[in-house]
Amino acid sequence: MPEFAARRRRLMSQMGRGSAAVFVSAQESNRNGDVDYPFRQDSTFYYLTGFEEPNAVAVLRPGHDEPFVMFVRPHDPEQAIWVGPRAGVEGACERFGADAAFPIEELDEKLGGLLSSATTLYFPFGEVEHSHVEPLIARHIARRRAAAQRGMAPLEDVRDPLPLVDALRVVKSRAEVAALQAAIDATGAGLVAAMRATRPGLHEYEVQAILETEYRLAGSPRDGFPTIAAAGEHSCTLHYTANRARIEDGDLLLLDTGAEIDYYGADVTRTFPANGKFTSAQRDVYQIVWEAQAAGIARVRPGVTFHSVHNAALKVLVQGLIDLRILRGSVQSNIERDAYRPYFMHGTSHWLGLDVHDAGIYRANGKSTQLVPGMVLTVEPGLYLATDAPRVPKRLRGIGVRIEDDVLVTPSGRRNLSARIPSTVEDLEAIVGQG
Ligand code: GLY
Ligand code: MN
Ligand code: MN
Repeated sequence: MPEFAARRRRLMSQMGRGSAAVFVSAQESNRNGDVDYPFRQDSTFYYLTGFEEPNAVAVLRPGHDEPFVMFVRPHDPEQAIWVGPRAGVEGACERFGADAAFPIEELDEKLGGLLSSATTLYFPFGEVEHSHVEPLIARHIARRRAAAQRGMAPLEDVRDPLPLVDALRVVKSRAEVAALQAAIDATGAGLVAAMRATRPGLHEYEVQAILETEYRLAGSPRDGFPTIAAAGEHSCTLHYTANRARIEDGDLLLLDTGAEIDYYGADVTRTFPANGKFTSAQRDVYQIVWEAQAAGIARVRPGVTFHSVHNAALKVLVQGLIDLRILRGSVQSNIERDAYRPYFMHGTSHWLGLDVHDAGIYRANGKSTQLVPGMVLTVEPGLYLATDAPRVPKRLRGIGVRIEDDVLVTPSGRRNLSARIPSTVEDLEAIVGQG
């Protein structure tokens, strides 16, 4: 609870006095018939409240006697028989630190009063899950406009709170790094178990099952995103999630996966030969990606730009494509012409945290974001030599390699939080199929 309270305090100090913010929880969503999708709280709502139930609203009012007000589903003995108890109005105060709490049914009636003294209102318009609250906010704005004509304090400004929250979310606290490390360690256990078990003849979904079994056994209630288990040519499909194919002798297997613990998700990719031995063509490609990744990771430190991590990895990849005789000319000219794009078509990094592609901006006013201690980013270069890609020699066709680690920016440089998960050719050949 102190962690969530500290986040709210930090946000409220930036919002300033005379303002109020309204945040809305995720909603339950029907899957089919009487079955809903498993519920997961909206990341921003969780970040600010720690509250894991749907149909809730949080109001923040800096400088007010009751700065944190929640609207939640009240206790319901009938519902509790089926799905267990809710925190209820009492729990919102006692367990989640609300200064006041009301049944969600009273939102319409009470919201206007709570916001009436604010001159700046923060609300993230446009989010699909907020559509049921937007009309209440719109009505409040209209009423304030009318009231201002009668001499009441006007609502001067309506702003989006997400840039403020996202700027907080992009720099992780110790508790957040600890949760990420737990998720990464669970992911490592899964990847090592999957490497040991892999052999030709298994199916992609069987390896996926091994990964996800380890995650659950490590205390991860769900994955952060759908597992990519891509054998052979499927490794060239960036977000392949069908995972139905048989793994053949001679295939590479690309696993891009992440357990989630306490809402923080890992995002790690390993690519290895299903039979435990890289072919010379596979090793050539793998080694280029490995060195590109090492160059990207080495670049991570406070003060350098997000984009320069990409540039460091990209130069190595392009030199590799020239060495493989897929590209011709200089590294620089190939980068200027985007000639590498058919083989490397995604960014090298993204922020990592509550969302796998986490909150935080990458560029503002034409300038790439500078890294500061506490940021966590992936470093994930790849080469994808699909059979229909241009100028790929026969021996390299169908090879897709991505290597992805999760890197914390520290005051002195970086810590690769997933470094313990095997990724060198030697380590992979020693482990694959040995289980
Ligand atoms: N797993 C999605 C990504 O690597 O961005
Ligand atoms: Mn990623
Ligand atoms: Mn990934």
